Amino acid sequence: MSLTAWAYPLAESLLAEPLPRRWAHSLGVAERARSLAPMLGDDAELLEAAAVLHDIGYSPDLVATGFHPLDGARYLRSLPEADERVIRLVAHHSCAHMEADARGLRTELETEFPREDALLNDALCYCDMCTTPDGTPTNPVDRINEIAGRYGDDSLIGRFIRRAEPEILKATARTMTRVAESKLAVQPM
Ligand SMILES: [Fe+2]
Repeated sequence: MSLTAWAYPLAESLLAEPLPRRWAHSLGVAERARSLAPMLGDDAELLEAAAVLHDIGYSPDLVATGFHPLDGARYLRSLPEADERVIRLVAHHSCAHMEADARGLRTELETEFPREDALLNDALCYCDMCTTPDGTPTNPVDRINEIAGRYGDDSLIGRFIRRAEPEILKATARTMTRVAESKLAVQPM
């Protein structure tokens, strides 16, 4: 079975009914991932699978610590058919290490789940931060402001997202540069 053929029904079964908006967001993030396929080559499907699964840790069936990247990655690790690289991307998506810091879970996160390739981490961050909660395209600045507004500036998430903002903007900028470079590379001289 391909990675995406495995990932979509799994994510849908965990999110679609209890959290339809989160499911719509996940489908949008996966759509952004597909748009990056030309620059990713053999890793395109890996990114799309991680994109559709990245927020499964919010599923009521999976919540354990309440830190969704860790809960989602631990659940995936329990599945015999799960792909190790998808698990790592889910565990570390969108500067999760900074939220882990705030929650006192960084050691668990970093020791249980090594990081995937930086280019793929950047790409997943780009896809997540360029997608609204409803799944439509947006830009990282509006997305960060939306998150801070939704949770409140004084909340754990609000403080995390402001602390992560510079790193998120750098990751998304690096990804946009790579997209532009990959387009230049395929243009005829
Ligand atoms: Fe997330």
